[in-house]
Amino acid sequence: MRIDIITIFPDYFAALDLSLVGKARTRGLLDVAVHDLRGYTDDPHRSVDDAAYGGGPGMVMSPQPWGRALESVAGGAGDAGITAGRGDTAGRGDTAGRGAGAPSAGRAGGAHPDAGRRPRIVFPTPSGVPFTQRLSRELAEQAWLVFCCGRYEGIDRRVLDAWADDEVSLGDYVLAGGEVATLAIVEAVTRLVPGVLGNEESAGDDSFSTGLLEGPVYTRPASFDGRAVPDVLLSGDHAAVHRWRRVQSLLTTAARRPDLLARATLSRDDVAVLEAAGVGVPAEIARRMAQ
Ligand code: ADE
Repeated sequence: MRIDIITIFPDYFAALDLSLVGKARTRGLLDVAVHDLRGYTDDPHRSVDDAAYGGGPGMVMSPQPWGRALESVAGGAGDAGITAGRGDTAGRGDTAGRGAGAPSAGRAGGAHPDAGRRPRIVFPTPSGVPFTQRLSRELAEQAWLVFCCGRYEGIDRRVLDAWADDEVSLGDYVLAGGEVATLAIVEAVTRLVPGVLGNEESAGDDSFSTGLLEGPVYTRPASFDGRAVPDVLLSGDHAAVHRWRRVQSLLTTAARRPDLLARATLSRDDVAVLEAAGVGVPAEIARRMAQ
């Protein structure tokens, strides 16, 4: 998978040299390039923002640097020439090539092997649709993602109209910009790319992948500070362990995210577990069970 990130704070993405993503880059599974938006400005101050039309506090990110950066990074993927002179800015903002396994150093100014293919272009924004595990899986199937990190009051709407495939929010709170959201999304997506996780199985039981939250996990020692690991986990009875994990998952979800229960696929045994625990089974599920 190829990932391009456009930002005014390239240093945020040093974290992509680490851990799972860093290893995947070294192994050639991911090709990540970070582009400095200021490299696509054409004034001495390298300014990327301006006052909002209509007034009000805060600044808006200007369309011209974004248009040039996207033309350079994503090629002809936009709907119309928001900037003139496509090609004349190729690679100007590239800061790529640092860190593990980033073949992107060779991209600047040259024709990229992905030229002509279309990336999926994602703008993290608090006004976007919620980022979910489902969207994460969908993005993990793409060969090429471009992330555009806004700051200030946001990016001029015309840039998004021309280029955005997805406007995605991490949650109902406002971050200072799209960088941290992009890091979170890149981590959630890339761990689903085949080969990135050591053990492919381990994504399958994650919270949300089953529609439920994951229950508690334990490792040695069997007793810690007077707290014991549940006996069943030491029993060697795989079926009992499996049942216990399902019950914990149901109870954790019921306690913390009852909204997820209403959408989950539950068996009659699951419903019995919830009823026995005195958890109100969502009406929609009770109705389905009665059919
Ligand atoms: N940028 C600022 N806040 C954000 C949020 N909650 N999600 C995604 N991008 C953002």
